[in-house]
Amino acid sequence: MDTLPPLRPLCRLDDLPDGEAVALDAMLPDGEENLIVLRHGDGVRAWINVCPHAGRRLDWAPGKFLITRGTLVCAVHGASFRTDDGCCVGGPCRGDSLRAVPLTIEDGEVWLVPG
Ligand code: FES
Repeated sequence: MDTLPPLRPLCRLDDLPDGEAVALDAMLPDGEENLIVLRHGDGVRAWINVCPHAGRRLDWAPGKFLITRGTLVCAVHGASFRTDDGCCVGGPCRGDSLRAVPLTIEDGEVWLVPG
């Protein structure tokens, strides 16, 4: 009988630079994905690191993202996504959204919300 690996947090909130985004790998129900994890004060948001325009990662350099005027800008063709809800507000996929991944914070640790 296989045993499941123990659950562990994605990271500690204090490890995330406030106002910036980092790339983290996570095991989701559909398999492993790279996530964009953005901290804003005591809150944190995450999206799958796949642009709805052409399916590419949004990083400008591995794990580095451009955030300007409340938007996250895709490195490939410049689509701009609001950092509060992941909706594209400018660029070639305007109106589409990044795929959100729900997170929760418990005792200073960032966890994926199961299910
Ligand atoms: S792949 Fe992101 S804007 Fe084209």
